[in-house]
Amino acid sequence: MKILKFRDKKEAIEKASTIIIDLIKKNPKAVLGLATGGTMVPLYKKIAKEYKKQNLDFSKLKTFNLDEYAGIKDPLTNRNSYHYYMDKNIFSKVNIQKRNINFPSASEPDYDKQIKRVGGLDLCLLGIGRNGHIAFNEPGSSFKSITRKVKLTDNTIKANSRFFRSTKQVPREAYTMGISTILKSKKIILLAFGNKKAKAIKKVVKEKVSKRVPASILHKHNNTTLILDSRAASLI
Ligand code: GLP
Repeated sequence: MKILKFRDKKEAIEKASTIIIDLIKKNPKAVLGLATGGTMVPLYKKIAKEYKKQNLDFSKLKTFNLDEYAGIKDPLTNRNSYHYYMDKNIFSKVNIQKRNINFPSASEPDYDKQIKRVGGLDLCLLGIGRNGHIAFNEPGSSFKSITRKVKLTDNTIKANSRFFRSTKQVPREAYTMGISTILKSKKIILLAFGNKKAKAIKKVVKEKVSKRVPASILHKHNNTTLILDSRAASLI
């Protein structure tokens, strides 16, 4: 596991966007696993900016989002869905083709097979939950898990309630890529910023691989880079 520490979030975002854009330039047909959450907002902003500046072509990219809440009606227009988030933050700003965009859902029971059919993920972008979750693989998730419907923990519901009007409105279930789905990606980049992520990063970096900290399994992947700001890296 490679660990890159940056003075601040801005520098970390610069690095992450360079890695992603270089990969797209080298392989315009790349298959990407994409994360949501507050962490990724400035990254997608930067990528959209570079897309325009460098006149890039995203038309052949294939994307598979990591997760989506369950039970959200009309995810494309619902402001709390990850569909909406992705459209607002990146998809509407670049020439990605609708047919190349994928989200896990009840109607996509073969998500892992679909990813395999297009050659597997070339790059998987990850955030991390304060409890060490990746995508919506909460503590205790099997390292062999594939894409499925899961129950969210109270911690995650509380942490994500900041995006909703109240905690009550946060869905209790979600669809998520599994840990084995993520580990099959050829390359993984995990981004973490701010003090609130410092404890989780410490557990990932300093402690043994354990199901209690899902992100710790990234030690077993041969091409993972953690991109951290100084606050998230303050305990390592
Ligand atoms: C959410 C998402 C994850 C995300 C994480 C961190 O629950 N399911 O994919 O990486 O929590 O989110 P944030 O970047 O807002 O801290």
